[in-house]
Amino acid sequence: MPVTPSLNPTTYTITAALPYANGPIHIGHLAGVYIPADIYARYLRNCGKRVLFISGSDEHGVPVTIRAQQEGITPQQVVDKYHAMNQQAFEDFGISFDVFSRTSSTLHYQVATDFFETLYGQGSLEVKDTEQYYDPVQKQFLADRYIRGICPRCAYQDAYGDQCESCGTTLSPEELLQPRSTLSGATLQLRKTRHWYLPLDRHEAWLKQWILEEHREWKTNVYGQCKSWLEQGLQPRAVTRDLAWGIHVPLAEARDKVLYVWFEAPIAYISATQAWAATHGQDWKPFWQSPDAQLIHFVGKDNIVFHCIIFPVILKTYGSFILPTNVPANEFLNLEGKKISTSRNWAVWLHEYLADFTDQQDVLRYVLCINAPENKDSDFSWQDFQAKNNNELVAILGNFVNRTFVLVHKYFGGTVPERSTVTATEHVLANYLQQLPHQVGQAIEQFKFKEGLQLCMNLARAGNKYLAETEPWHLIKSDKERVGTILNVAVQLTANLSILLEPFLPFTSHQLKKMLGMIPSEGTPWTQAGNLGLVQSGAALGAPTLLFEKITDERITAQQQKLHAMNV
Ligand code: MF3
Ligand code: ZN
Repeated sequence: MPVTPSLNPTTYTITAALPYANGPIHIGHLAGVYIPADIYARYLRNCGKRVLFISGSDEHGVPVTIRAQQEGITPQQVVDKYHAMNQQAFEDFGISFDVFSRTSSTLHYQVATDFFETLYGQGSLEVKDTEQYYDPVQKQFLADRYIRGICPRCAYQDAYGDQCESCGTTLSPEELLQPRSTLSGATLQLRKTRHWYLPLDRHEAWLKQWILEEHREWKTNVYGQCKSWLEQGLQPRAVTRDLAWGIHVPLAEARDKVLYVWFEAPIAYISATQAWAATHGQDWKPFWQSPDAQLIHFVGKDNIVFHCIIFPVILKTYGSFILPTNVPANEFLNLEGKKISTSRNWAVWLHEYLADFTDQQDVLRYVLCINAPENKDSDFSWQDFQAKNNNELVAILGNFVNRTFVLVHKYFGGTVPERSTVTATEHVLANYLQQLPHQVGQAIEQFKFKEGLQLCMNLARAGNKYLAETEPWHLIKSDKERVGTILNVAVQLTANLSILLEPFLPFTSHQLKKMLGMIPSEGTPWTQAGNLGLVQSGAALGAPTLLFEKITDERITAQQQKLHAMNV
């Protein structure tokens, strides 16, 4: 039955945090940000909404210059390398960005510069001369992250200049005791410098009203962090830095300084939208300035304050921009019980996974979603990966689809049989099925992606139970007509699975649709699911190809060994 697309669909501007282009993407990035964001974007597209799914490379900041030093290349070469590599990794994993931009683009320089100039011109920034830590060996002022010292709260020895990882307190470098450079180990000197500040303190009142009163529905982890920030009291934040790599401050007296990376990187969501609009003959403004548009920022938990407080202050101060509707941040994913670390090489990199598990993107998507750190930190282990693949994807989902296809081929030559003798069992199944698209949709809309995927797996479980109970392989001797009905129903269930699973497991969904002859009607609307009439009787099914295959102990052991061997 054709679905009339709504004439004026809601616009969703969906952003996924810009990954730093100073290293490859790992499973922590995917689980925390990109998989949830992709599920959300795909689902809304399938519902006929107007979606723009945005990300790009964050190419400035000290981490890039450090990487350049380590690799003996220029910062531009670093970002060119990782931008290309990360863009490819996202594409390989089916992360369906409409635009994947970069902060070194000319357009982004213009837009970011305009933001600074506008705020400066309005008198919305404050200027302050302060003393900041200077590394006399490296001959540079140091970013907060490159300063370590003793936490004034909990006495942890290795607290960062911006945060203590032990007690979670947000710090500024001057608060650290015995500050030292992580680059050279040198004791730091205080030197005078001038910077421009975003006076967050002036914005406390409306932020409190907007978040604490009007957004009580935000995830508890997000709401809680905002509450604690707002209750501690906000301080002015410098939006300029003493660095050579970045977007130069557009003021004559500050040509040797750059915009703070956390000031300009979120603006890339906007410049990326403009770049997309220019190449698609579209207007960018509805995505950012229409009061009905929904702006959703997917980020990791260390990005919450930037997206809930700092960027909204920038947008509101600039004027005429909408503020985020939600910031569904996740917690962290650990790996085999330990914090993922790029520098210690304790990670599973996407490009390496793909080399070892070719064409098995959905297995990783599945494991990372079903185990997502939605409300608390979670853990990825290779053993659990194997168990989830073998006991869930193979034994439940793959098994149901395969049995259905094999039986239709065996008893009906691959032609979908008629459905005639419907019993109470089918009525119960049909009623259950009817609720499902709404339930899965609700879970996704509430950012409960695990639950949504679990509900889909329950449908496959229900399918297996149905076949086990009706036993078409016994019935075939006595009642072929009834077997026809059973297999017709089973085929309809697999077709529903292909629609409902699309946001979660797009590769599997595509393969299943191909087997069902539902391609090229690729963008099957979500609203078509929920009934037993998706595939016509008489339709020819494709050959049963296995959706998933068992992963052996040897392959898992090899991954565990590789991980430990690379760890430094
Ligand atoms: N690069 C940052 C990180 O990985 C995220 C930047 S998000 C943006 O933590 F909003 F600034 F773009
Ligand atoms: Zn501490």
